[in-house]
Parts: sequence; structure tokens; C-alpha cells
Amino acid sequence: MTKIPDYLQQVTQAMIREAATRVATHIRRTPVMQLNNVRTAITPAHLWLKCEQMQVTGSFKARGAFNKILSLSDAALKRGVIAVSGGNHGIAVAHAARSRGVKATVYVGSSVPPERVAAMQSWGAEVVVAGPTHAEAFAMASGIAEKTGAVYVHPFDDPLVIAGQGTVGLELLEQLEPPDYLLIALGGGGLISGMARAVRETWPRCKIIGIEPAGAAKMRAALDAGKPVKLDKVETKAISIAPNITTPIVHAFVRAFVDDVITVTDAEMIEGCRWLWREAAVAGEMAAGAPIAALMNGKVKATAGQNVCVLVCGAGKDGII
Ligand SMILES: Cc1ncc(COP(=O)(O)O)c(C=O)c1O
Repeated sequence: MTKIPDYLQQVTQAMIREAATRVATHIRRTPVMQLNNVRTAITPAHLWLKCEQMQVTGSFKARGAFNKILSLSDAALKRGVIAVSGGNHGIAVAHAARSRGVKATVYVGSSVPPERVAAMQSWGAEVVVAGPTHAEAFAMASGIAEKTGAVYVHPFDDPLVIAGQGTVGLELLEQLEPPDYLLIALGGGGLISGMARAVRETWPRCKIIGIEPAGAAKMRAALDAGKPVKLDKVETKAISIAPNITTPIVHAFVRAFVDDVITVTDAEMIEGCRWLWREAAVAGEMAAGAPIAALMNGKVKATAGQNVCVLVCGAGKDGII
């Protein structure tokens, strides 16, 4: 029997079930909707949306942030929490920290939209603009966490965060018959790792596909290289799925449980968001347009009678206007 690498033991199905219990009263069970009777079909298959744009704080990120922060003792939290974010993770951490009565400091790059900064502040977070990009924010935040002893909540490279995101998958198991495809936007890879971990055994034949920006195709590059990679630069406006690195844990999960990782362009994502808005009045941010874009552009070829589930990962207007 092949030995399962240790990374895969870091997030177990039991941890995802525990996460679901832990976060239950803090998050929403989001609906699954069949998107039938559309004006412009993008697939001959039946299309289902898992509506995480309706989640607390506007994205699935609340699940991972709450799971992490609720797992910590008061003593561990006494110096506050620190996060780096392109938006959604920071908003989710700010909310989860406030629920424990502790201060969150969120480090951002200056490209983070002002409305996302305002949302973090509205949950009581202090927001620090660390430099022009995410990379400066990462460097500053990890240095400060080390110096101050504040808890650093990584956006994806943390088993408790991944287990929290996996609760989307647990819900889907109860809401849907096994689909033929599950399409998930891929940033750092915590979301797809948790979800794939949650559903893979129960839905062995479902093709789980990650979709990342062509201008930030770090997981595709890592799979091709056979090891985690760091991209020298990223070129995408889809800020939530723009990280330039993969880490060993997410790389291991994607290799083990995900069928394929494909890319879409920014223009395709915007087209996907506009379609979602026109057909379903769903205001998904650019990342949410990525799976739709994959279908629209024939990059995922589902056939008549098949079932495709698309995760609408977060709310926003960047893809619509
Ligand atoms: C709306 C949205 N979708 C997808 C992702 C990607 O999640 P992950 O980085 O865990 O792959 C993020 C991450 O911030 C996000 O905010």
C-alpha cells in the first residue's frame, strides 16, 4: 500500500466535521440553486450554484477564519490576531476576532479596494497598508506577528483554515446528489483543498476542477513542476485568487484530490460575472466568474444530462461594472 504523505493527515474529514460544529452558529448554511431556464446557455449540462456570496462577510472565508479563531484559547488570543488579505480573508478575520473580543490587525497591499478596507474596519479591524502589493503585506505581517506574539491567521496555509473552508463541501454532500463536476476558483488553494477533502470519498467519480487566473497560475505551475512554486509576478485584477505561491500542504491536497487545474483570463472572468448577473441576479466578484468562464469558453466540457456544480465563492461588483 502506498504511504499517505503526512500533509494529507493534517486535515482529516473528522477535522472538517468538527469545524462544521464549531462554526455552525457563526455562519450561514448557504443555498444551492439550479440555474435552469437561462437566456444564454453556457453548458448543455444541468447547472447548480452553491451560493457562498450570501455567506456572512460576503464569502466562504468566514468559515476558515471562524474555525481558526474559535479553536484558540483566550490566553493564545490575548495579543490579538494578524492577517494579510486581498479583502475577503481580512473581513472574515476581523469579524471572527471581534466575536472573541480581540483586536485584529489586517495588512493589505494598496491595490485592495477601499470598500473592502471599509468592511474590515466596520468589523473593528485596524488596517495597515504595507506597500504596493500583497508581498509587502505578507513580509510585514509575519515579522510583526513574531515580534508581538499576536496570532497569525494565514489565508490558506493552515490546517484549521482549510478544515473550515472544507465545511462548504460537507454542506454540499447534504444538498446535492453527486455531480459530475465541481468547479472551484483557486487562489492559494485552501478552499479547494478543504472542499476536495470533504467530498472526495463520498463522490469518487465527481471531477473536481480548480480554476485560477492565467496571470497567476501558481498551482498549474506547481503541478507541472511536481513541487510548490513561487511566481515572479502576477498579472490579474482578480485579487482574491492572485497569490503567487503554493505551499506544500495545498500542493499535496490538490495533487491527491483534485482532478485538474485550468486557467481563465481576466476578460473571461468578467464575462462570467456578467453572465451570472444577467441570468441569476448574482453579484459575484471576479473569482466567482472563474468557473462560469471555464464553462463558457469550453474549458470544461460537460455533456447533456450531466450535473455541474459551480461554487459562487464571493460577492462583489468588480466583475460587473
Ligand atoms: C471570493 C474568493 N474566492 C476564492 C478564493 C480562493 O481561496 P483560496 O485562496 O483558499 O484558494 C478567495 C480567497 O481569498 C476568495 O476571497
